[in-house]
Amino acid sequence: MDFSGRNIMSIQDFSRDELEHIFKIASDMEKFVKTGSDMLKNKILANLFFEPSTRTRLSFVSAMYRLGGKVLGFDDPKMSSRAKGETLVDTIRVIESYADAIVIRHTIEGSVTLAAEYSNVPIINAGSGTLGHPTQAMLDLFAILREKNTIDGLTVGILGDLKYGRTVKSLAYGLANYDVQLVFVAPEQLRMRRDVLEDLSEEGKSIREVSDLDEVISDLDVLYVTRIQEERFPDPSEYEKVKGYFRINRRTLKSAKDDLIVLHPLPRVGEISTDVDSTKHARYFKQSSYGLLVRMALLSLILS
Ligand code: NCD
Repeated sequence: MDFSGRNIMSIQDFSRDELEHIFKIASDMEKFVKTGSDMLKNKILANLFFEPSTRTRLSFVSAMYRLGGKVLGFDDPKMSSRAKGETLVDTIRVIESYADAIVIRHTIEGSVTLAAEYSNVPIINAGSGTLGHPTQAMLDLFAILREKNTIDGLTVGILGDLKYGRTVKSLAYGLANYDVQLVFVAPEQLRMRRDVLEDLSEEGKSIREVSDLDEVISDLDVLYVTRIQEERFPDPSEYEKVKGYFRINRRTLKSAKDDLIVLHPLPRVGEISTDVDSTKHARYFKQSSYGLLVRMALLSLILS
């Protein structure tokens, strides 16, 4: 399987076989976390973050360092020529001669695709508006695989802001490669977009939509919780209506299966109480550590 020079734009561009190849390489990367490697010596990655990030940006940096490569870029577009009015296309035309691959996170849907049209080096989508976050979906799938030993046969609840969240859409499309039952848990105002539901049902996925977690908690093998995306609401008063809608705590998980795992792409802002952290269900910090392995795998595949 040849990934060299490939863009990572959408989780939908990856087949199950390709995802499984990435997961195999991600597991192989574990040994290099301790020992390091010079696999990407002389390679440079550019990280262009037009939106805040902690895990995604720093795990790409760490992945590059662990494999012997170097990183340049910005995490505050106000300190780049963007602030002087430079277009994204011009920025890309310049950066492509400084780096071997470019990671971009942007507020506007379509901007990462536009960058890929103009770039001569591979572009990795690190989150584009409300639409997609493919490397997050890969690490979410990898986390499920590693923590449950399988993805097939599971009932997966995806909860929170299904309307404005991008991780939930990419994850749902990623899960559609497997034999899973999907349960979407969200208040009426934050339900999954209709076009995504249609795509999933075309792929033969049976989907349940509920607004109350208590109704379904005992059926779930995986509960994927997300933050309500305050910054993406066009009207702040709409956010006020759903703010704090979910607060998962030990009590909420009382009727859960013994081996339910709780995931979250992070950051959390109150939707999972810290009293869950010490339960056997909590896997969200472990999940973020899998992000490093998956990003090491992707960089080694694309840049080698
Ligand atoms: C997510 C994102 O940026 O979409 N963060 C991440 O990459 N782990 C989730 C979020 O911001 O809620």
